[in-house]
Amino acid sequence: MSVRVEPDDTRVIHRDLNRAYPTLVRGEGVYLFDSEGKRYIDASGGSAAVTAIGHGVPEVVSVLAEQAGRLAYAPTHAFTTDAVEECARLIIEEFAPEGFGKVWFVSGGSEATENAVKMALQYHRERGDGSRHLVIGRRQSFHGATIAALGFGGNAGRRRPFAAILPPAEHIAPCHPYRCRANGACPPCDLSCADDLELTIRQVGAENVAAFIAEPVVGATLGAAPASEGYFQRIREICDRYGVLFIADEVMTGFGRTGKAWGLDHWGVIPDLITCAKGISGGYAPLGAVLAKPEFVGEIRSRSGSFVIGHTASGNPLSCAVGAAVLRYIRDHGLIENAEAVGGYFKARLLELAERHAMIGDVRGMGLLLGVELVRDRESKEPFPPAWGVGKRVGAATLERGLVSYPGAGTADGAAGDHLLYAPPLVITREQVDEVVGILDESLGAVEMDLAGVAG
Ligand SMILES: Cc1ncc(COP(=O)(O)O)c(C=O)c1O
Repeated sequence: MSVRVEPDDTRVIHRDLNRAYPTLVRGEGVYLFDSEGKRYIDASGGSAAVTAIGHGVPEVVSVLAEQAGRLAYAPTHAFTTDAVEECARLIIEEFAPEGFGKVWFVSGGSEATENAVKMALQYHRERGDGSRHLVIGRRQSFHGATIAALGFGGNAGRRRPFAAILPPAEHIAPCHPYRCRANGACPPCDLSCADDLELTIRQVGAENVAAFIAEPVVGATLGAAPASEGYFQRIREICDRYGVLFIADEVMTGFGRTGKAWGLDHWGVIPDLITCAKGISGGYAPLGAVLAKPEFVGEIRSRSGSFVIGHTASGNPLSCAVGAAVLRYIRDHGLIENAEAVGGYFKARLLELAERHAMIGDVRGMGLLLGVELVRDRESKEPFPPAWGVGKRVGAATLERGLVSYPGAGTADGAAGDHLLYAPPLVITREQVDEVVGILDESLGAVEMDLAGVAG
């Protein structure tokens, strides 16, 4: 096998059809190794925020092998398994916020979004509120790439090619202090972006609104942007006032990523439904879930008796056994605490970098979900011209030097803007963070030199 797979030599449809891909052969802890023996530090945590406990953890590998040998797949319409029961028990008893008691398993984040919305609509319908069909999301958000999940998200670039077939959904402004558009009201923040939810509900009619969906810290599309203090409390009040279900998309933020079990824990807010994936199985198997409260499930139980949902891989025993092993590892190794402590150190080191690199406009995030927004002018926050592909260039420069970053574009307004997302395994140490920051420093310097050539 060649070391770099060239576009003309592969039968795989890769994400970038014009790029030669190095071949990865092994992972250990926070490191990945390619077929040439080159080492990379996995600071994006996969694509992205997935590899919660690092690569090659023997405890998980042995659970995976044991479960595969015993029972890899089960017909879940007829049976339950120890694996699915144990994974659900661990999620509820060890991680879930107060009041949650039931778990529906799927195979990833997009399915979790779609299933949570279906469950919300069915809940309203069976309670005689069948007109509630609309989902309100936020601009610059991401809830998955499948058609409906894409429609609930508000990232303009991702939506545009499919706009004609996306489901009807409303989008309010994100809560994003760095680029707040509330006429200078933020800071000090008057939470007008939260009040926008109430306005929108009233405009479309509360009787038509099923749910509001939001990421506690916006990951892929805003580069780790947490909400302002008080935002989610206000959102909760508004949802309660209008009978709208609040779905927290914790696909990136769940299971300790932000230094608390859930992103919303930072504000003490309890949603109605939680979607999660990624860190739940740490990349060892595809897994996602929707968490619900017993009374929510009870409404369906006492009426039709079953949710109209279901996929071939729902409750897959292999994925659930792996999920349980990963969650035990997070719990037993104090990884949530590590995310908080090392995440704080990482953020401080990135802020130091900002002093040396004028192109860093903002450093943000919580725990080990961190973002660096790149700007042409720090004062005015003017983004780089999209054609320059600055985020991608920095990402390529770090990769060349052995650091996996997760670059994103459209950060400023859906079209322009660049950021780098960092979400390394929660086991990362301060020394490894120093390594990340050192490579990023050098890479930013190299791209700055290139850009001086472009601009000059
Ligand atoms: C917040 C959020 N929700 C949903 C998804 C979709 O998850 P998946 O790619 O597993 O379908 C993602 C993926 O990045 C995400 O970040």
